[in-house]
Amino acid sequence: MSSVVVLGAQWGDEGKGKIVDYLAQKADAVVRYSGGSNAGHTVVANDVSYKLRLLPSGVLFEDKINVLGNGVVINPGVVLDEIEGMKAKGIPCKNLVISDRAHVVLPYHQRLDELQEAALGAKKIGTTKGGIGPCYMDKVARVGIRMCDLMELDTFAAKLEANLRAKNEIITKIYGGEPFEYIKILKEYLNYSERLRPYVEDTFVVMDELFRAKKKVLFEGAQATFLDIDHGTYPYVTSSNPTAGNAATGSGAGPRNIGHVIGVVKAYTTRVGEGPFVTELFDTDGLGMKIRERGHEYGTVTGRPRRCGWLDALMVHYSARLNSLSSLAITRLDILDKMPYLKMCVGYKLDGKLLKRIPASLKTLARVEPIYEEFDGWMEDTSGIRKYKDLPLAARRYLDRISQVAGVEIGIVSVGPNREQTIVLKDPF
Ligand code: GDP
Ligand code: IMO
Ligand code: MG
Repeated sequence: MSSVVVLGAQWGDEGKGKIVDYLAQKADAVVRYSGGSNAGHTVVANDVSYKLRLLPSGVLFEDKINVLGNGVVINPGVVLDEIEGMKAKGIPCKNLVISDRAHVVLPYHQRLDELQEAALGAKKIGTTKGGIGPCYMDKVARVGIRMCDLMELDTFAAKLEANLRAKNEIITKIYGGEPFEYIKILKEYLNYSERLRPYVEDTFVVMDELFRAKKKVLFEGAQATFLDIDHGTYPYVTSSNPTAGNAATGSGAGPRNIGHVIGVVKAYTTRVGEGPFVTELFDTDGLGMKIRERGHEYGTVTGRPRRCGWLDALMVHYSARLNSLSSLAITRLDILDKMPYLKMCVGYKLDGKLLKRIPASLKTLARVEPIYEEFDGWMEDTSGIRKYKDLPLAARRYLDRISQVAGVEIGIVSVGPNREQTIVLKDPF
């Protein structure tokens, strides 16, 4: 199979970066197709931890082509800092290409993100405040500034001037905030423009050449299925489509180029930010807390504590169909090593009846009851295991049940953050 999509099957932070880094060893290119600096992907290689926000997780390999596709929103300051940070660690980021059609995040997007969240009060989304939503709003409203515009001084200056006039009206008159100074942003972004110029290209051409040459392309999803603007727990979602279909639209690859789709599933469930969470554990000193502390479940980008709960296998089942998953990569199994018992949600009940789908209405979703199955814990260290058959029986029973409910086979089990802490049952390449 020549191309593989790796995406989150839950609410993000499933360990996509780790899985992409592992698979990147055999790939020729790694492509981001959605989201922006709201993503935080941690890759641990040779005991060094790398925190990536915009850069694809393939940058650790010098010979791979790394693409930021048209579907990504680029905060120039963030990506340049990341490139500098990588260079300081001896990673040159030579083969990075950024789509000339990708939209640019500007300071007013970030400010509007903060102001909109503050105005929502208790109803806030809990965004990463990176300006992601407001940047996609401009894209859809057809007033956005693209990388190709940033590369042309006159186009950028004119678009910035028009946009800033409108945004300053909103910032000052609706939110009572401070206006931005045109010249300050212009100067800052012209500097970014020059520094980013070597990376900006028509990435459709890059993708097309990769596919024609039958190269192995790895698509790196950001965010996750239930944060998808169309299919997630709206409005508690991000503003783009992390689901598999957008791997094509967000990169310019034709859909028939996609051969295999991997859904990354954390062995339990977490969510950062607000919104529904059927299997959430609310205890402050019990098992939910145990998972958070043992798993260091704190956001990579914002440092916020992640909400923790039992695995919701109905979500994985839904994700499997929506993304036409070929296989699952189950991560962080080792975090459950010290759990005396586990629960897994295998379906929802509504008004005493079995519900075979996930309701769109948040009011209805708030009323569903999880149907749990209980599992024995394995109380054994799995972090050194490299073969599926060597996993404790109780762990295999738990994993097999996830696969059964999802209706998808398991391709990878991850038992630690390091590259080698990976059990491969089916190699997608
Ligand atoms: P992503 O956003 O989906 O890439 O996930 P994050 O990087 O935000 O969060 C996953 C965290 O789990 C990172 O710190 C990874 O290094 C780590 N990780 C990934 N797989 C495993 C695993 O199997 N076991 C453990 N203990 N940590 C893992
Ligand atoms: P990775 O790629 C987890 C969440 C935010 C918030 C909602 C909207 O690391 O899995 P946004 O800033 O996108 O407008 O915030 O989405 N969110 C994530 N949660 N992992 C992520 O990315 C996320 N990116 C956004 O917490 O609830
Ligand atoms: Mg993350």
